[in-house]
Formats: sequence, C-alpha cells, structure tokens
Amino acid sequence: MDKNEVNIGLIGFGTIGAGVVEIFNKNQDILSKKVGKQVNLKKVADLDITTDRGVKIDSKLLTTNVNDVLEDEDIDIVIELIGGYEPAKTFILKAMKNGKHVVSANKALIAKHWEELIATANENNVRFSFEASVGGGIPLLQPLNESLAANRFEAIYGIMNGTANYILTKMSLEGSKFDDVLKIAQEKGYAEADPTFDIEGHDTAQKLIILAKLAFGEYVPQENFYVEGISQINAEDIEFASKELNYVIKLLGIAKKTEDSLEIRVHPTFMEKNHLLASVNDVFNAVYIVGDFVGPVMLYGQGAGRMATASAVVGDCLDIIFNESKRISYGPVISQVNKIKDIGDTISKFYISLNVLDKPGVLQTITKILDKNGISIESITQKSSLENEEAPIIIVSHETKEKNIQEAIAKVNDLDEVKGEIKLIRILGD
Ligand code: HSE
Repeated sequence: MDKNEVNIGLIGFGTIGAGVVEIFNKNQDILSKKVGKQVNLKKVADLDITTDRGVKIDSKLLTTNVNDVLEDEDIDIVIELIGGYEPAKTFILKAMKNGKHVVSANKALIAKHWEELIATANENNVRFSFEASVGGGIPLLQPLNESLAANRFEAIYGIMNGTANYILTKMSLEGSKFDDVLKIAQEKGYAEADPTFDIEGHDTAQKLIILAKLAFGEYVPQENFYVEGISQINAEDIEFASKELNYVIKLLGIAKKTEDSLEIRVHPTFMEKNHLLASVNDVFNAVYIVGDFVGPVMLYGQGAGRMATASAVVGDCLDIIFNESKRISYGPVISQVNKIKDIGDTISKFYISLNVLDKPGVLQTITKILDKNGISIESITQKSSLENEEAPIIIVSHETKEKNIQEAIAKVNDLDEVKGEIKLIRILGD
C-alpha cells in the first residue's frame, strides 16, 4: 500500500454493506484526508445487484462475480459483509492468501474459526480487523487490544445484543408484547436473519467469545459455556421485579476471572436500577470492563443497525491504512486462565418464581428444602391467589452456588403442591 491510493472491495451489499456505500458517498473526502491517501470503494460484489438498497451507487462498481474483488490486484482491503460461515470463510481466506487485508463484521464465523482466520492473516502478513463484529458501532476490540492493554482484565459484563435489549426495554417500559417488538426490531434491521440467534443468546455468546479471547487470552468455544436467552422472560416477572425489588432485566454476557479460572456465561440477569448497565436501553449496547489498573470502564453506543455498524467497518479500513506497518491481527495473546469454571460452581443471587397451591404448610416445605441445600432467603413474597387456588410466590435468595439452587429447585419441582414451571433468574452481584 505504498501508493497514494487505496482501493477497497466490498463483498455483500446487504444492510451493512449499503451503509458502507453511504459512508463513502457522504464522507469519502474526509476519509481520504484522515489517512493522507485517496481511499476508493472500487468494487461491490453481491449475487443480487438489482434490488434497490436505498443508496446511490455507480453501476460500474457492481459485480456478481466475487473474484472481481478477490483477484483484483489493485484491491488492497476486502470487506466481507455477507455473514454466515460459508462461503464467507472461503472468501476471507482467499483474500488473505492473495495478500489483501480483510475487514469483517462476521461474529459467528470469527467466534467459531478464530484460530484459523487469525493464523492465516498472520501467515500472509495481512491485517484482519473485525471491530464491527462486537457492539456494532462501539469501539471495543481496539480499546481492549491497545488503549487498555496495560491491564490484566478482571471482568467483562456486556449488553451486546441490540434486538434482545430492544425487546426487554419495550416490555419493561411500555408493557409491549414480545412478538410485536421483535417484529419492529426485524423491520429496523437490528435482528439477525434468524432472530433466534438474538433471542436465545447465541449472538451475545459469539460476541463474548471474541471479547474473552482478547481480554483473557482464552478461546472458549460456545459449546463449553452456559447460554440462556430471553424467550422465557414474561411481563409479570419484569413488572414484579421492577416495582417490588427495584430491578431491571438485561441479557448479559459475563466473562470474569476468579483466581486461575474463567467464568463465562450468557443469561438474562436482574440488576439494581442504579447499576450503570441498567440504564442502557433500546438497541443500545454497553460493555463494562474492569481492568486491574484502569478500574471500571464502560463503552456505550448503538450495537446494531446499518450506519452504526458501517461506521465501525469503515473505521477498521482507515486504521489499516493509517497503521500500515502494523501487521499482527489480534494476537498472539497468552492465556491468563487455567480452566473454565463450570456454571454449577458460579455464585449468584437468584430470583425464583413459582406457582403453588394456596394451602397451609406449602411455603414451609419449600423453605425447608432451600435450607437443606444451604440456600438462605433474602425475601419471600406471596402474591394474591389466582382463580384456580394457586398462588404465585417470589423468592429472592442470598448468594449461593448455582448447583445448590439447581438441586433444590429440582426437589421443589417434584412437590405436588407446585404447579407449572419454576422460573429462575440470576441477579447481578456487586
Ligand atoms: N442482531 C444483532 C443485534 C446485530 O441485534 O445486536 C448486531 O450484531
């Protein structure tokens, strides 16, 4: 890239791809000034080049042949925005082997094939940057890798899925219905092609894998940690926890170092309304990072959406151009942990919601079971009986080991007086 001109090829003219084109349309002059070189968007490849994406584009840039990008010797940086595992992986590897730097937002691919992608970039002396893969437009990976690099990291707590946060916010603040809000999130382009990735926590898990690798040096595949989404969260629990306990619910990705092990998990979490993360609403994301010297740092911004994500993609391109001599892509990072803590050994407070037959002695039976499993209770509330003579009970425990609570809940579940499903929601500690 020693010439005075840098050419970029884009693969994938979808939501974010169109955002990249729009940034070039509006800001190409300042992009070039910032790096001191003419920066061009030279080719845009997609199988569909006829659908109107709502952005102006010179038709000469468009191609249906991906090799027009991958094999063009004048293209220095390839942006991959098609998402999914294949053919995205093949295209990225080919671009790297052809000596091109690669920018991607493909968290699923990066979380699954981290080692191969990074190794191929390093072997081919090219950069592989993926700031947009975590937290949309929020700078997260570069701060972890550079500005905060003096620290040993202690913990990361992240609200990292815009769709899930949008749904939980609208359910909490406006009493909206889950399915209605999901539909709006899809229309606004926040949700994944398959929205179960958003709702069931997989998208958050993929982002957490990337953050945990950068912060703790440990690559933890998704099958090795606990992931629970928000589909079981109902309006009653949100309302009760808000009014009676002063809690807000968020889908959190948590990676925390305890002695020599790493706790890593994704689940809906209640937290005090005055926690910094509690005020992160709608499609916004925030990641709360604790470093040993810097202390807590919170990075906040739009975690999904066309323009915010495109902003991170183009930022990565400029960083590559600006730091031409920097050749190592995120690594090697030395692991700082010896083992991954089993979810059963993690410690939380719990919110337990269940329906019981409204008759004498039931509460006592339940509290005895909890006591026998070493669980101490912070509060217990019986709401007024339902028409079918069942009474909803809400129990909040003190901090306890997850496996103790799971064992106790299994026993409580076996009681004839307990009706329906018992709901367990973890509460964020200090
Ligand atoms: N579906 C993702 C979200 C998009 O809702 O956050 C950004 O990764």
